[in-house]
Amino acid sequence: MWFNGACVPWEDARVHVWDELALRGANVFEGITAFWNAAERRHEVLAGDAHLDRLYQSALAADIPAPMERAGVFAALAEVAAHMGGMDIYLRPTFYAKRGRSTLALDSEGAMYIGGFPYRPSAPPAVRAIVSSHRRFGGPIGAHAKSGGSYLDFRVFERERLQHGVDHVFFLNDHGHVAEADGAAILLIRDKQVITPSVASGVLDSITKRIVLDIARGLGYRVEERPVRRDELYQAKVVLAGTLLGLRNVDTVDGHATVDAGAEDTAATLAAEYGRLCRGESSLASAYLTPLT
Ligand SMILES: Cc1ncc(COP(=O)(O)O)c(C=O)c1O
Repeated sequence: MWFNGACVPWEDARVHVWDELALRGANVFEGITAFWNAAERRHEVLAGDAHLDRLYQSALAADIPAPMERAGVFAALAEVAAHMGGMDIYLRPTFYAKRGRSTLALDSEGAMYIGGFPYRPSAPPAVRAIVSSHRRFGGPIGAHAKSGGSYLDFRVFERERLQHGVDHVFFLNDHGHVAEADGAAILLIRDKQVITPSVASGVLDSITKRIVLDIARGLGYRVEERPVRRDELYQAKVVLAGTLLGLRNVDTVDGHATVDAGAEDTAATLAAEYGRLCRGESSLASAYLTPLT
């Protein structure tokens, strides 16, 4: 853990129970991947700028004091990565409020920690999902910010997932349209067309989704960002997109399986291209990968 200016052993990253972090869940965070480039012997971070943009936007939305400038955050990410050479990694920087109920409070004080983990995505053999009985939340902070407090709802979603013995739960928004999944954006693929709920559907603007839509446009596929009805999930190849999952094909939604050879091919092409991009092997790589040194 990077904590209070240095990398420390896991058990030494401690906060007080009366810090705003614990009292009100006052934190915002990002999940970022960095891939090991063996030839260059360095990590290359995927969409690092976009993740830091979103971290600062989340901090603004949740009124969490940003503890430092971007260069400091990148330097701290590089410090964690330096401890984890030779492997792909998942970095989780978190800004949190140590003190002060608002950034306007006189005692307002922000801080940061960063967890570093090996990144080894794996998918269950068959991926089953259900649409949750809960709606995705609104409120002043909203789904577009990655705030720890709003992720408290995910405990309830996780319970529902476990009760139904499935791999993922999908949420509808207040209008009954499809929003997102637990930890991922939802893509619907039909032949050479990629459909995804628009940001106005009340979702986190997934960075993985943005990358995949970029790849899709480059391949000449049609991309639609719009409100999506629940029953459309049953008529398309559903693919999840998220930093931690990468791209994950869903086999059934509410028990419906979609068999569409064209869509399967499109999903496979997108996944292969995304994998190549992460390895620096695609023409889009230079736009998304940055050395983390
Ligand atoms: C609720 C939610 N939606 C979508 C995503 C995917 O976002 P990204 O691709 O930026 O990781 C995540 C992952 O962090 C998430 O937690």
